[in-house]
Amino acid sequence: MKFSTILYADTALLFSLLLAPLPTAAMFRCNHVVSDGQQFNLEALGGPHSIVTSQDMGNHMINTTYTVDICAPLKKKGDVKRGEQCPNGSRVCAIKRLINPAEKVDTIRYAFPLAGELAIHGGSTLDPEIARLSKVDPDSGKQGLRVTLKGGYYDGDNHVRRKQQTVIDFVCNKDLDGSEGEHDTEDKYEPNKDPVEARVEDESNGDEDKDGDESTPPKEVQLGMDKNPSLVFDRYGPSDTDTNVDVLHLTWSSKYVCESEADDGKKGGDDKGDDGDGEGKKPSSHWGAFTWIIVLVFFGTAAYLIFGSWLNYTRYGARGWDLLPHGDTIRDIPYLMKDWARRVLNTVQGSGSRGGYSAV
Ligand SMILES: *[C@@H]1O[C@H](CO)[C@@H](O)[C@H](O)[C@H]1NC(C)=O
Ligand SMILES: *[C@@H]1O[C@H](CO)[C@@H](O)[C@H](O)[C@H]1NC(C)=O
Repeated sequence: MKFSTILYADTALLFSLLLAPLPTAAMFRCNHVVSDGQQFNLEALGGPHSIVTSQDMGNHMINTTYTVDICAPLKKKGDVKRGEQCPNGSRVCAIKRLINPAEKVDTIRYAFPLAGELAIHGGSTLDPEIARLSKVDPDSGKQGLRVTLKGGYYDGDNHVRRKQQTVIDFVCNKDLDGSEGEHDTEDKYEPNKDPVEARVEDESNGDEDKDGDESTPPKEVQLGMDKNPSLVFDRYGPSDTDTNVDVLHLTWSSKYVCESEADDGKKGGDDKGDDGDGEGKKPSSHWGAFTWIIVLVFFGTAAYLIFGSWLNYTRYGARGWDLLPHGDTIRDIPYLMKDWARRVLNTVQGSGSRGGYSAV
């Protein structure tokens, strides 16, 4: 019985290794986003994507361009002053402009990163968190991913640095490829083919902060909503859980997070019966095909051994080791292994000491 105990222990170890949750990668690889064993390729959403919001401040407007690149660091097009772009390594950038149509004022007030690999600039790391919408927001009934990207910072007027983060809800929509209705923005990023607008005007307006009521900031609304953009601004402000952190919330609809598009291993292994388009499919199990093969082999072997033992018992009245089909062979496995290990050892040592098999 000793051997079967070893067999059992090994199998248990193998299982715990196979089923252990994968360690979260520190990097965010947009073409290989894994959550609960399901893989998504968001590469098609890569490159700079922008939305513009506007806040009516009374005598002027603050328009903000939020630009996201989930695949690579953002790079502003052309020569841009330091204060008017986000630092190297930024993945999400906010550029705030002061607009006064009457006086033809349009100046960049500040630019700051909302996420990125920014530890060397005094921010922190991107440290991505990936979760299924079905888990973090089951009530919405939406299929997709919630990705939290960190590392951003904002230096306020009183030189207090506040951490910044971006939360993107990638929502499944089979009809969208994610770039619909994108608003044209003044803030151009590589690889954008449009000519650079090098326009820096004097800061002639210093009195923009006299709207009094601090408690209710003017509503920030996204421009171009009539074009039904795929990328939507939800809100920007202090986090619910940590008021020292500001969070930008975006919703991005596309087909790339639909589970029917995402997984390859599912097609072969899953035999749930209905092969619809995956709409009603619950994420019941997300084991890879490989795990399934191991499980099938394991249960197949177990069934074979049990059935064989039963046959041997009833037919031939076998007991002990004789119960097992091929009992002799199985019993010999430890000795065969030991023998094999000894030979390997001999070979390894032999090559060093010239002992072993060399003819004298
Ligand atoms: C700023 O926002 C206003 C709407 O509040 C819009 O009419 C204007 O075109 C925007 N300007 C820029 C430069 O985005
Ligand atoms: C980004 O890095 C480049 C060199 O790779 C450097 O020339 C540039 O000044 C950096 N920009 C910022 C904003 O740090």
